[in-house]
Amino acid sequence: MIYEICTDRLLLRQWQDSDYAPFAKISSNAEVMQYFPKILNRQESDELADKIRTLIAENGWGLWAVELLETQEFIGCIGMHAQPTKFDFSPCIEIGWRLDPQFWNHGYATEGAEACLRFAFEELYFQEIVAFTSKNNIASQKVMEKLGMTFSHDFLHPDLDDTHPLREEKLYRIQKQDFKF
Ligand SMILES: CC(C)(COP(=O)(O)OP(=O)(O)OC[C@H]1O[C@@H](n2cnc3c(N)ncnc32)[C@H](O)[C@@H]1OP(=O)(O)O)[C@@H](O)C(=O)NCCC(=O)NCCS
Repeated sequence: MIYEICTDRLLLRQWQDSDYAPFAKISSNAEVMQYFPKILNRQESDELADKIRTLIAENGWGLWAVELLETQEFIGCIGMHAQPTKFDFSPCIEIGWRLDPQFWNHGYATEGAEACLRFAFEELYFQEIVAFTSKNNIASQKVMEKLGMTFSHDFLHPDLDDTHPLREEKLYRIQKQDFKF
């Protein structure tokens, strides 16, 4: 069974073929990708979308495609991803988001992610969700704070080498008992 989440303004759903072109546009935008190691070309973006779609098909949840209910436009992705081993705080479930810049600062990331947290705690029985981002990604940290997540500690991303400017990351956490249902 593949779960969908509906909020006042958003539908979080399984990916479909028509999402791939707008996702590639988002993932090749230098502003969107400024806190990621690289911008993605069409093939890399499609491969990532395939991977995300497969995980949702296998687990029923994941990094959902986000559709604006009013216009049915694909505006990006919001959801959760399991990190069983990569980090020294693994195993963990991380929550993440990537939206088209034309839809930034309307509260969409917070609205979608809040619904994901509720779903994660109520339906999937997770006890804790984490989020992390580059120390300079203030918008993303703002979303984490608006969700009620608490700063835990700074860490160095294990996939990036010592000199990489994005290596320093901030980890936030929220536990089920602290989520305002
Ligand atoms: C992070 C992201 C998903 C936020 O999406 P969004 O829908 O604009 O988020 P929201 O509107 O829910 O909240 C954004 C908050 O950050 C604030 N903000 C945005 N840019 C900011 C900046 N440069 N400095 C300080 N605050 C900023 C907004 O004012 C808003 O806070 P407010 O509601 O208190 O005014 C979006 O910026 C994005 O897709 N970024 C690129 C991808 C990315 O970095 N993903 C995260 C990787 S871990």
